[in-house]
Amino acid sequence: MVRIPACHAGGRGFESRPLRHLFIVTSQNPFLVFILRELTDFVCLTACYPALIALLWPQNYKLSEFMSVLLSCDSVSKSFIDGKNEVQVLRDITFSVNASEQIAILGSSGSGKSTLLHILGALDTPSSGTVEVDGQSLFALNSNQQARFRNQTMGFVYQFHHLLPEFNAVENVAMPLLIAGENPDKARLIANEMLAKVSLQHRIEHKPSALSGGERQRVAIARALVNKPKLVLADEPTGNLDKSTGEAIADLLAELRESLQMAFIVVTHDLQLAAQFDRVLTLSSGQLEERTK
Ligand SMILES: Nc1ncnc2c1ncn2[C@@H]1O[C@H](COP(=O)(O)OP(=O)(O)OP(=O)(O)O)[C@@H](O)[C@H]1O
Ligand SMILES: [Mg+2]
Repeated sequence: MVRIPACHAGGRGFESRPLRHLFIVTSQNPFLVFILRELTDFVCLTACYPALIALLWPQNYKLSEFMSVLLSCDSVSKSFIDGKNEVQVLRDITFSVNASEQIAILGSSGSGKSTLLHILGALDTPSSGTVEVDGQSLFALNSNQQARFRNQTMGFVYQFHHLLPEFNAVENVAMPLLIAGENPDKARLIANEMLAKVSLQHRIEHKPSALSGGERQRVAIARALVNKPKLVLADEPTGNLDKSTGEAIADLLAELRESLQMAFIVVTHDLQLAAQFDRVLTLSSGQLEERTK
């Protein structure tokens, strides 16, 4: 029996929901077949051998697409109560992201992009639905466990940089390492290297107030990446920058995505930035749709 880690099967002829595991079984034993069908989400069964598997394999399915699902968002809805009114921002959102996959989410202002990203990063809770990252159901954790999990697995670049004003660039970048228990000297060394990667080696002692908007966003990106997270969530990383600084940050992100094997979900208004990604999804009327490039 070959056990293949989870894959996103939406729109590819299997089912329109993320699958936890896809099992391919080569067995003539009806009892085994029955047990597996009862125990798993979905079982692809064949009584014959590899040639038949190859025949049944959907033609446009590359083996690489069976890489493990890193993030799986299942039926997530979110409403806010505004006085007596309930505002439904997200409606039944289901999608998944593979390890090292790079996704852009487009949507107009107020469409719920930040709300969705905050839920994916366990910075907010959904009204219903579940989010699993790296096999861990985020909302099964208490807030301390969520913070630890975020620190180890995710990097977040906020819409507004959210750097700590009283700390300089290198201290801000070293912070996630210190929280993870790294030795302070080593943390500083790694933070310095990360700042060099975003071309800020000459600004390490500067506090955020002494940095330009683009430089602050570079520090924020360095801080998000310093722990080598499996998943980076970025909320309009170029949104508050002028055109040329925004383009420089977009280039930097493209470079980092190329060199570091991490999954990225980037929320943006910027069609040019979105066009650089593997997949582009659009958030509209609370729902997420795949956009054909
Ligand atoms: N805490 C809250 N209480 C009530 N309504 C909220 C809250 N947070 C967000 N909203 C509403 O949810 C909707 C989506 O907000 P969100 O910040 O997710 O949009 P966005 O797509 O990120 O917008 P932008 O592109 O302007 O950043 C908005 O109408 C907003 O007013
Ligand atoms: Mg937003």
